[in-house]
Amino acid sequence: MERKWWHDKVVYQIYPKSFYDANNDGIGDIPGIIEKLDYLKDLGVDILWLTPCFRSPMKDNGYDVADYREINPMFGTNEDMDRLMKEAKKRGMGIMLDIVANHTSDQHAWFQQALQGKDNPYRDYYIFRDEPKPAIDSVFGGSAWEYEPHSKQYYLHEFAVGQPDLNTANPKVREEMIDIINYWLDKGAVGFRFDVIHLLGKEVDRGIFGYGPRLHEYVRQMADASFGRRDAVTVGEAWGDIQNAVDFTLPSRHELNMVFQFEVTTLSWSQGPMGKFAYHQPDMDAFKSIFAKYQDGLNDRGWNSLFLENHDSGRSVDVFGSTAYRYESATALATALYLQKGTPFIYQGQEIGLTNSPMALEDYDDVEIFGQYKALVEGGVCSKEAFLEGVYKNGRDNARIPLPWNASINGGFNAGATPWLKPHRDYATLNVEAEQGKSRSVLTFYKKLLKLRKGEFKNTFVYGDFALIYSEVKDFFAYQRNGEDGLVYVMVNLSKEAKHIELLAPVKRVLLQNQETDFQGKTSLDFGPYEAVVFTL
Ligand code: GLC
Ligand code: CA
Repeated sequence: MERKWWHDKVVYQIYPKSFYDANNDGIGDIPGIIEKLDYLKDLGVDILWLTPCFRSPMKDNGYDVADYREINPMFGTNEDMDRLMKEAKKRGMGIMLDIVANHTSDQHAWFQQALQGKDNPYRDYYIFRDEPKPAIDSVFGGSAWEYEPHSKQYYLHEFAVGQPDLNTANPKVREEMIDIINYWLDKGAVGFRFDVIHLLGKEVDRGIFGYGPRLHEYVRQMADASFGRRDAVTVGEAWGDIQNAVDFTLPSRHELNMVFQFEVTTLSWSQGPMGKFAYHQPDMDAFKSIFAKYQDGLNDRGWNSLFLENHDSGRSVDVFGSTAYRYESATALATALYLQKGTPFIYQGQEIGLTNSPMALEDYDDVEIFGQYKALVEGGVCSKEAFLEGVYKNGRDNARIPLPWNASINGGFNAGATPWLKPHRDYATLNVEAEQGKSRSVLTFYKKLLKLRKGEFKNTFVYGDFALIYSEVKDFFAYQRNGEDGLVYVMVNLSKEAKHIELLAPVKRVLLQNQETDFQGKTSLDFGPYEAVVFTL
């Protein structure tokens, strides 16, 4: 496989609204990110992915874009973004932006034009129909069709009412997106994350929403005219299966470098009508076999993204680990995840083992939580209590709570102005500063882990083959990585129960571990709850 500049890089996802509020107005901002660049450099990450920070009425926190070329004034100015790119570059880091090509805000000039009437040239940028058909629900609850009284037609919004779907079958729409991507490439963006990219080929009248017949043609066209010729790094949010992931990332197809696939993260969702709002204890054997499937499936036919958290998920300690074993499970999950083959994506706060922080219903802000409350609780599917239990695990605002930096007011997110979302309930003890400089902390472990990935065994971790081992041991994730720099073993207990493993040869060198157990020279290994070790034989 041809080697690429980004293969050995680590991505850190920033949710600007919740990262750091430099001007103390309650909302995180770009100057705040600039202030924290040294922290990120020290952590060992290379690329910063910012969720959308363009002008937006923020109905869906920026995934409703009103102007793709203008930075949202609540986050700063276009000059601030220039400065962020420059300051990041100085430190050897790059900025990755988030492009929403499936829909815009209803405040976008294109949609405002489209509302002028059926003859307006922008009308066909969107999807208007005389009838709300085919009947389909929006992701956030309720019908995905909104009546527009002026023209007596309905427009499609697969997400919020304020997020009308673009008609990507219209070549002009694709040209607009290409221009936008090139605009940000010229400004210095090193890559892009593409929101719900699998929806771009929809053929509504045939009832096709995801993976329409022309999807790959569109993505390829965008790649050829923008990011593909500029060697940018790309990742598409693509809800689908392994074949979909191959179709997007097979290098010879010249589409995307990676996708986010959700087979693992949705293990905590119920299959019933409550979906993510009924927490389902993840089967950790399914967890490891799904990862193994992608490792194998994309080995020579694409590239994996390695993630467990993002701005749409609960915290992985709550979802896949155990809050009673916060340090152990956060570090165990990191070891299991980030030493696989692929590009690590760390979501802000994950590096300190941040947990969920339950709140009263009215303290939430998320359009999905309120939309699904209406559909599920008011719609009689479940009780308010049951719904809130689901929110406390899988609700999106868990990840959007202002990042606690220290024990001062609002967790040091700012200088005391009321944050847009309540601070974390445990910020007095669970914050960046409390994790810093300790020999045993999640943050210290993350730094060691990233150093290990980039150190003596780098080529093994970046390009080596992956093979699952001891797969019959329940809730135990073990694999070997075999590459240019040697053979490395990774063993992780993903449960609270003790595990015992017999090796064929003694442990030669321990490269990383999250407990103090002496594994050196041993062939009989005993693992405590969420214990993890990386070694050579
Ligand atoms: C993606 C984003 C999510 C957003 C949705 C609509 O799933 O990650 O935050 O609400 O797309 O843009
Ligand atoms: Ca601010």
